[in-house]
Amino acid sequence: MTKVLLIGNGAREHAIAAALARSDVEILAHMDKMNPGIASLASETSINTLMDSRKLPDTTGIDYAVVGPEGPLSVGVVDYLISKGIQCIGAVQEAARIETNKSFARRILDDVAKIANPKYVAARSVDALKKFEDSVGVENVVVKPDGLSGGKGVKIFGDHFDNRDDLEKYAITLLSKHGIVILEEKLIGTEFTVQAFVDGTSLELMPLVRDYKRAYDDDKGPNTGSMGSYSKANHMLGYVTDEDLTTASDIMLKTVIGIKKRTKLDYKGILYGQFMKTDKGIKVIEFNARFGDPEAMNVLSLLTTSLDDVFQSIIDGQVIKPDFEKKATVCLYIVPDGYPGPDVAQDSPISLIPGIDSEVYYASVYDQEGVMHTTGSRALGLLAKGDTVEEARSIVYKDAERVNGKIRFRSDIAKGVEE
Ligand code: AMP
Ligand code: GLY
Repeated sequence: MTKVLLIGNGAREHAIAAALARSDVEILAHMDKMNPGIASLASETSINTLMDSRKLPDTTGIDYAVVGPEGPLSVGVVDYLISKGIQCIGAVQEAARIETNKSFARRILDDVAKIANPKYVAARSVDALKKFEDSVGVENVVVKPDGLSGGKGVKIFGDHFDNRDDLEKYAITLLSKHGIVILEEKLIGTEFTVQAFVDGTSLELMPLVRDYKRAYDDDKGPNTGSMGSYSKANHMLGYVTDEDLTTASDIMLKTVIGIKKRTKLDYKGILYGQFMKTDKGIKVIEFNARFGDPEAMNVLSLLTTSLDDVFQSIIDGQVIKPDFEKKATVCLYIVPDGYPGPDVAQDSPISLIPGIDSEVYYASVYDQEGVMHTTGSRALGLLAKGDTVEEARSIVYKDAERVNGKIRFRSDIAKGVEE
């Protein structure tokens, strides 16, 4: 039987584990915290930091590894595994910079699809950032750290600042900390996520997903890892045309080729494109070098081709076209009360009342004497399928009422979606 090392312990990795288990492979799960959902699907578990290759379990007998989160990609866990003869679903460190280094991603796009970039500057001085503010108008500025921030580092004028001083204070804090800060023109439009399986030279797309990053209803409040997502039965989104999708797919393929040109490295694994449809065309918000979380749950729950076959085809350099069920999905994140603020209800009991029809993916919970507890992060993702988004939505929200504990969730995920 094929044996796969799965690295990571979030709901995304739980969804990967569930899809791998359906393809009848043996899973060795390497987690930095025990995820009870993943553990129930794995034949072996190893608990240790994900961020240090020296702490990986013995890889004897492993056929290939799947690296779920960006953290281990950013420190070169894939490079290490390849040096040990283990092929990986996940980009090598230098290629993963498409996610881990925002200025690198913007430069690649400048090379291959400049039109998809907003105006931006990778500022290394206060002068440079002030000059950019003057050129686009401070009310049109988005401030981002150059490196990883778990989706929480991006701050936008009008949403997170209402004056130049506050924006500059934040930009200068990032500049002092990292020696660089990214300022971008604020794009206006609707976002969509495109995920693709990539074999180094070609890619195969997964159904489109809409993600909801803001903490509160009506897209208010700070950015979070995400509060929920949906996908439609036809694998498109109402506001994305075939032409838009072709443009986005083309940008992603050119990006893979652009990475190869700059780094001489094949990009193998998952490429995630966060796009915005604007009145100036399709723009790239960011790339990730991994499945989205929660978007992995939307697409992997629909995958009817064996995930093992898809992964093996990536390793062989000839990615196969996967099939997905023609169903709509809605994923809703259940988070502890107070998330993502400072007074989050962590270490608090959480339980599920029997009768839940959604798939339950554990994100960050732990078991203490047989009782599940929250941490300070998102607790679990509920994923429902339906013939329509509304049907999936009604299942997920019915089930959310069956989660007991000091928890909350957004009430407007996939609300009023054009079917
Ligand atoms: P990121 O971590 O880069 O995906 O950014 C988090 C969120 O901030 C995105 O999903 C967008 O909603 C928003 N965002 C990032 N960059 C821009 C931009 N240039 N214009 C408008 N919104 C943005
Ligand atoms: N859903 C956003 C992310 O995975 O980064």
